[in-house]
Amino acid sequence: MARRKTIKVGDLFAGAGLFSQAFNEAGGNLKFAIELDPLAASSYARNVGTEIKTGSVVSQKVFPACDVIVAGPPCQGFSTLGRRDPKDVRNSLCLVVPQWAERCRAQVVVVENVPPFLASPSWKLMRDAFEARQYEVATWTLDAVDFGVPQRRRRSFTIASKIGLPEPPKPVQATTIAHVFKRLRRNDPMHVWPEGSDLMKHRLALLPENGDRRDLLLASPELCPPSWWKIGCQATDVWGRMKLNAPANTLRCDFQNPSKGRYVHPTESRVISLREGARLQQIPDSWVLNGHRTAITRQIGNGVPLGLGRAIAQQVMNLF
Ligand SMILES: C[S@@+](CC[C@H](N)C(=O)[O-])C[C@H]1O[C@@H](n2cnc3c(N)ncnc32)[C@H](O)[C@@H]1O
Repeated sequence: MARRKTIKVGDLFAGAGLFSQAFNEAGGNLKFAIELDPLAASSYARNVGTEIKTGSVVSQKVFPACDVIVAGPPCQGFSTLGRRDPKDVRNSLCLVVPQWAERCRAQVVVVENVPPFLASPSWKLMRDAFEARQYEVATWTLDAVDFGVPQRRRRSFTIASKIGLPEPPKPVQATTIAHVFKRLRRNDPMHVWPEGSDLMKHRLALLPENGDRRDLLLASPELCPPSWWKIGCQATDVWGRMKLNAPANTLRCDFQNPSKGRYVHPTESRVISLREGARLQQIPDSWVLNGHRTAITRQIGNGVPLGLGRAIAQQVMNLF
């Protein structure tokens, strides 16, 4: 049945626009977006097309009316990989979301973050601020791999609503890296990766599929620095090679650095390309991401993969 009204959506902390795009594809009408980083904002404008304000969500003076607000505030202060610093000033940014909701008269709000966010004092303050404004609040912790994304990526979603709470989305069939690493164009400007030193190339060539730094320590200790032998340095993802017929592990902002995770190509002696990273996040090949390499990996690694975003967007849109 056709929906009677147009659902207006606003995106705070919009990044390059993956979560916005999911709402676009679910039939939402993107009305505004705010993003601090000018490069991410220019990618957003190019790909999503909605008007985007480059600046901080805390210093805006105009609050356009909308039905839905989506927000992905920075997660570094909550992430198990970050320093999880309760004093990180970015932690309090989520508290502006209930204020925006009130000013924009939004009926439904979706706040995306890492799962530990839900146990933080900032989350409790945000929930209280929503409840004080008569929103009902629910939380979901979902894994992108359950929504057709070739990547394990657990994220929390806080839903605040004045029109009833949506059901969580139903999982769909899983997919693998092999499925999205097909038909890559050699002349694609995004199909690029850092060459790395001779030592790095040597290490990468020795990594077995699904192997990691521990395999290098066993096979070629002479290629490994003393720090790798220290107790507590046995993280299983570091210098990890992906497995072709499996989903990838969580893609982070520095996914072209092998010392940061399982980012080595499943069959080649290199880290994955920008295009391969974008495909793991289901970013269409037609999108152009602006900026230098680290700006692009940040825009990719920060995003909500489209399959997961669409599943959530659909449940929210069904409320109207
Ligand atoms: C997790 S990312 C959001 C990703 C986005 N939801 C997507 O799916 O592509 C968080 C974004 O918040 C932006 N940001 C950080 N502080 C901000 C602020 N004060 N105002 C607006 N944006 C901010 C960062 O530059 C980053 O792009």
